[in-house]
Amino acid sequence: MTKRIGVLLSGRGSNFEALAESVATGRIPNAEIAIVISNKPDARGLERAKARGIETRLIPSKGLEREAYDRQVAAVLHEYEVDLICLAGYMRLLSPYFVAEFPQRILNIHPSLLPSFPGLESQKQALDYGVKVAGCTVHFVDENLDAGPIIVQAVVPVQDTDDEHALSERILKEEHRIYTEAVKIILEGKFKIVGRRVIRTA
Ligand code: GAR
Repeated sequence: MTKRIGVLLSGRGSNFEALAESVATGRIPNAEIAIVISNKPDARGLERAKARGIETRLIPSKGLEREAYDRQVAAVLHEYEVDLICLAGYMRLLSPYFVAEFPQRILNIHPSLLPSFPGLESQKQALDYGVKVAGCTVHFVDENLDAGPIIVQAVVPVQDTDDEHALSERILKEEHRIYTEAVKIILEGKFKIVGRRVIRTA
């Protein structure tokens, strides 16, 4: 049966685009992106979704209390009967209500090797700290920030000449690759969670 993915985003949407391309080309088999939701009216990701003929919803968050907002988003995700929710540059904290509503069905991509550098401007945090390798992480979302069980990570070198832009670009390429890999693993159900560890199964 075709699995239905809901994507939440706030901006550029390059991770959404990578997922959409993987679905379209069968790298993520038996799946479709059922709905793309943004909290930002000017999110380029919304335009990218429309250009692919994917349904979109703008749900502005301004002035709404966190759980009240999340209830609106959850209602749309239920309406579209999604099996998996992919956060793709969704710059909002999720309420405990939302996380409990979709247990082990929310994934996030983060531009650092978690648990290093959670939160905002992770690439800048990595440069400022002086690490020699950086990377990205796809993980399950729980009620804590950038903290759920890790599904896939990728490492990139930090060059002496890097600025934030150069490092971000190098990481982003890997983000696009591992988000597809992680979604495929999860949708195929070929994993189990033992403690914090996501273990691949045949
Ligand atoms: C990506 O680098 C993603 O990892 C990051 O925002 C960017 C969104 O780019 N997400 C976070 O920092 C979440 N904590 P995109 O809109 O082009 O996918």
